[in-house]
Amino acid sequence: MLQAPPKGTVSRAGLVPLAYGPGKPEAERAGRELVNPFLPTQENFSRGKLVYERSCAACHGKDGDNNSSVIVARGLLAPAILVTPVVKNMPDGQIFHVTTFGGPQKMKGLGDLISREDRWKVVLYIRELQKASAPKSAPAAPIAPVQSTGAKP
Ligand code: HEC
Repeated sequence: MLQAPPKGTVSRAGLVPLAYGPGKPEAERAGRELVNPFLPTQENFSRGKLVYERSCAACHGKDGDNNSSVIVARGLLAPAILVTPVVKNMPDGQIFHVTTFGGPQKMKGLGDLISREDRWKVVLYIRELQKASAPKSAPAAPIAPVQSTGAKP
């Protein structure tokens, strides 16, 4: 039987192992428990963009909307549209978990290919794609509704 590593063990990369397994309930738990350790600085954002364009865009499209998706064009898979409310409302930790372990259906986890830091930074970039996809101008209304920034108090 495999023994669990002793508490406090760090990986070769100097990281404490993630206390999560694959699957949606675990993804949701990660969403509740984990906080992105990186702030959306220009540097982290640029890194996240690079990682996204290298590792996610082929399936999810350059803008996260499945347009320009190679996979969709070939009719192979239907990736989740990252700029829809479902993923907008997904906490950072859950997106991080999906990137690590894979999606609920077809997407494979990329935890072996993308470093933990880069998996967090890609979440920062997805948040920007989501903001960019919001309608540019609100429809004319007597009183303009307050637009949510998506920021948590
Ligand atoms: C080989 C194609 C492919 C790549 C590469 C890929 N994805 Fe996906 N992704 C999918 C597919 C297909 C789905 C929908 C089916 C599923 O959930 O498994 C999905 C779903 C998702 C979801 C929604 C999960 C949910 O619970 O609904 C997120 C978030 C996501 N991907 C993020 C990413 C990020 C971030 C990257 C890059 C680091 C990435 N994906 C790379 C194909 C891909």
